[in-house]
Amino acid sequence: MPAARVIAIVNQKGGVGKTTSAVSIAACLGVAEKKTLLIDLDPQGNASSGVGIVDAPRQIYDALVSEVALDSLVSRTEIEYLGVVPAGTDLVGAEVELVSREARESRLREAIAPIRDQYEFILIDCPPSLSLLTIMSLVASDELLVPLQTEFFALEGITQLVKTIDRIKENLNPTLSIRGILLTMFDKRNKLSSEVDKEARNYFKDKVYKTVIQRNVRLSEAPSHGLPCVIYDKSCVGSKSYFKLAEEFKNKIVSAA
Ligand SMILES: Nc1ncnc2c1ncn2[C@@H]1O[C@H](COP(=O)(O)OP(=O)(O)OP(=O)(O)O)[C@@H](O)[C@H]1O
Ligand SMILES: [Mg+2]
Repeated sequence: MPAARVIAIVNQKGGVGKTTSAVSIAACLGVAEKKTLLIDLDPQGNASSGVGIVDAPRQIYDALVSEVALDSLVSRTEIEYLGVVPAGTDLVGAEVELVSREARESRLREAIAPIRDQYEFILIDCPPSLSLLTIMSLVASDELLVPLQTEFFALEGITQLVKTIDRIKENLNPTLSIRGILLTMFDKRNKLSSEVDKEARNYFKDKVYKTVIQRNVRLSEAPSHGLPCVIYDKSCVGSKSYFKLAEEFKNKIVSAA
């Protein structure tokens, strides 16, 4: 198998749909029998619980701090083709514990390297910050997916994110690119949603995915059942938008190669 595309789902703003998108896209790819690994890089562990994994004994922390092989940390999920490396509160300490470690920004990249040829896609769910964990994911990734919530202030903070990405490109990962901006929690009845949509497309042009993720209560219910929404209720509006997005996502990556 050729090396996996490594894609981080990143936005330092909280609650914009990073985890919902990471879990949903990973699940869609898995259902399509694309071998996919979801790495939870957020101490909140929402991506892990979103695929039904809580209190896993071994977590991404072990790979980053103790240099345990990532391969041995993969948990199986309901979907045969989807594995997950879970995260938990231990991860909060990782940043401090790595402080004096040389080349710590490259820890995740190094951990992923030996297993890249075992997957088609490796998705990384980032925490809502531009801290070391997010920096590690920017160094480890080929491409980024940036979810934008279609609400007021959606674009606020994006300049800072773009600056950080540029800095990483200059120093540590020259080929990193934003592959796609994803508009989330779109509400047809809210004029603001369409305004943010227009503004984002004006600014980021065709980097914005054509598929928009609708606001849909099923997407927020699914995690409490420990299932990706596309499994929990595959025909709801939210799942349909993620299935459509996954198609666009796969194609966009292929055309970029
Ligand atoms: N399209 C949607 N429709 C309805 N609810 C949604 C949608 N997308 C996400 N949500 C809900 O909004 C909340 C925030 O979403 P999510 O956890 O995916 O964001 P996040 O960016 O990962 O947050 P954090 O920054 O805390 O990690 C969650 O309760 C989630 O279930
Ligand atoms: Mg999250």
